[in-house]
Amino acid sequence: MAVSFDRIAGVYDATRWSGVPPEVMKSLLNAMNELFAGCRTILDVGIGTGRFAEYLNYSGFEVVGIDVSLSMMARAREKRIRSLVRADAHYLPFRDRVFDGAIMVHVLHLVRDWVRVVGEVGRVTGRVIVAEVENGEGFSPRSRYLELRKEMGYPLDRFNDGEAGLRRVVPPATVKLVGDYWTDVDVHEEIDSFDRRKSSVSWDVPAEVNDKIIQRLHSENPEKTVRRRETVEVVGWDPAQLRHLNTPAKIR
Ligand SMILES: C[S@@+](CC[C@H](N)C(=O)[O-])C[C@H]1O[C@@H](n2cnc3c(N)ncnc32)[C@H](O)[C@@H]1O
Repeated sequence: MAVSFDRIAGVYDATRWSGVPPEVMKSLLNAMNELFAGCRTILDVGIGTGRFAEYLNYSGFEVVGIDVSLSMMARAREKRIRSLVRADAHYLPFRDRVFDGAIMVHVLHLVRDWVRVVGEVGRVTGRVIVAEVENGEGFSPRSRYLELRKEMGYPLDRFNDGEAGLRRVVPPATVKLVGDYWTDVDVHEEIDSFDRRKSSVSWDVPAEVNDKIIQRLHSENPEKTVRRRETVEVVGWDPAQLRHLNTPAKIR
C-alpha cells in the first residue's frame, strides 16, 4: 500500500521549506532549469503540493504531475498546475519516452519497490531524470528514530534511502552541488516534530511506541541547539541508466 500524505497536505509546505537558505534554493532551482535545458515536457513523480512543479511551470515547461494523494494534488492545483493524474509510480499510465524530462524529489524513500519505480520513470522519459539529493552530517533525529523503532520491534519495511541511495548506486551523468552550509538545529523542536507525526517514518508506529521513542530522543540529546552540515545536490541521469537496474539484493 502507498504511503498516503493526505494527513499532512495542509501543513506540508510550511514543514518542508524551513531551514534552507534562500540563496541555496535559488541555485537549486537554477540548476534544475539547466538540467532540463532542451526539454519541453516534464513528469513530476510524486508531485505532492507542486513545490517544484510550480517553479518549472513558471519557467515555461509543460509539467504533468502524478501522485497517489488527491489532497496533496489539490494544493498543487491551487498553484496553477493543471495536468495532474492520480497514479501509483509503480505503474505509470504513460507510453514509453512520452516525456522529455522527469523529476523525483523526496519520493523514492516512500515506495514499496524503488527499483520498479525507477524503471518506470526511465521507461516514460526520453532525455533526463532529475533529482534533488540532500545529505546531512551530525545530529539526525530521523536516523535515530529509525534505529529506535527497529530496536522496539517496528522496523521500517521500505528502502528508505531515497534519491540519495539511488545516487550512490547509479552515478548520475551530471552532478551540481548547489549548497554546502552549516545550520543551527533546535534539537527539541526537531524531535517534537516527530511527536507531531510530521515525518512519514513515524506514521505506522503505535502511539505508545512513538511516545517511548520521543522520550529516548529527548534524553539522549540534552543540548538545546547543535550545528549540522548540509549538502544539497541537483543530479541528472540519462534515463537509459535507470531503465533496467540490476541492484544487489541487500539494498532492495
Ligand atoms: C515527501 S512528498 C514530496 C512531494 C514533492 N515531490 C516535494 O518534493 O515537495 C512525497 C509525495 O509522494 C507521494 N507518493 C508516495 N508514494 C507514491 C507512489 N507510490 N506513487 C505516487 N506518489 C506517491 C505522496 O503522496 C507525497 O505527495
